[in-house]
Amino acid sequence: MVLYFTGTGNSRFVAQRIAEICEDQLLSINKMMRQRRLDPFNAQYAFTSDKPFVIVCPTYCWHLPQAVEDFLLNSRFLDCRDMYFFLTCGSETGNARDHAKEICRKLEMRFRGLSSTRMPENFITLFKAPEPDEAVAIIRAALPQVESTARLISSGRDITDSYAGRGVPDFVRRLFYRLFIHDRKFRVKENCTGCATCAKLCPTVNIRMKNGKPVWTGHCIQCQSCIAVCPVNAIEFGLRTRRRRRYYLFADGRQKFPVERNEEDLFTDD
Ligand SMILES: Cc1cc2nc3c(=O)[nH]c(=O)nc-3n(C[C@H](O)[C@H](O)[C@H](O)COP(=O)(O)O)c2cc1C
Repeated sequence: MVLYFTGTGNSRFVAQRIAEICEDQLLSINKMMRQRRLDPFNAQYAFTSDKPFVIVCPTYCWHLPQAVEDFLLNSRFLDCRDMYFFLTCGSETGNARDHAKEICRKLEMRFRGLSSTRMPENFITLFKAPEPDEAVAIIRAALPQVESTARLISSGRDITDSYAGRGVPDFVRRLFYRLFIHDRKFRVKENCTGCATCAKLCPTVNIRMKNGKPVWTGHCIQCQSCIAVCPVNAIEFGLRTRRRRRYYLFADGRQKFPVERNEEDLFTDD
């Protein structure tokens, strides 16, 4: 069973390919996370599979996203005891292997390894996303790694990581979360059409519509989905994202059409 979490589509794209090769079921953690927020008492998940569980998600601060860890630790995995991890990253996964191993220990699952691949950088509230052509090249280069890992999983072998790097001490991760994982600088500009795509997609149900405009309510995990998916690029994060390209990979491999120039100067506070 392949379970994926994604902010901007990279991990979904990879998870789809893994599920195809392993001829296995594909489930969205995003949807279940939303459900759990909306109905915490009834949205309890127990997954049953006779094939290994494969968790696919992005790398956040050289670890698995905290929200994914929380989701996994609050779920039950039945029948098969094997768990694999496949992480997408902008450059390196750092401590993710140890993190995944620790999650398996807590779940009493057998850790069968973590593999990863570079995908386009999506963290646009901090960095720049690649140009569309560059993003296509990165995705094409990632596919062989994804496919060979999927074949290893399918044949029951252990997997290893090629993009690990050095990682960071735990205090850096804590600091990172305190400094960067918040929604205090999200703003919506006047060109917002009130379509609520951002609110419908937010995995933590952190966006509610007030007078036809999105409002962020303090449970943001900085997955970038709202800012990336907005069809009219009406969402900004402070001043940093003005004129910055939005990156979103749809399930069919289409990239969001790059908007050369955002409607700017509709607000000026940062
Ligand atoms: C909050 C945040 C933290 C990130 N931290 C890292 C990191 O530590 N190392 C890295 O290589 N990429 C990092 N990235 C980049 C993403 O892991 C990468 O672009 C990933 O493919 C996004 O996957 P998604 O589209 O499925 O959300 C980070 C992205 C975000 C939004």
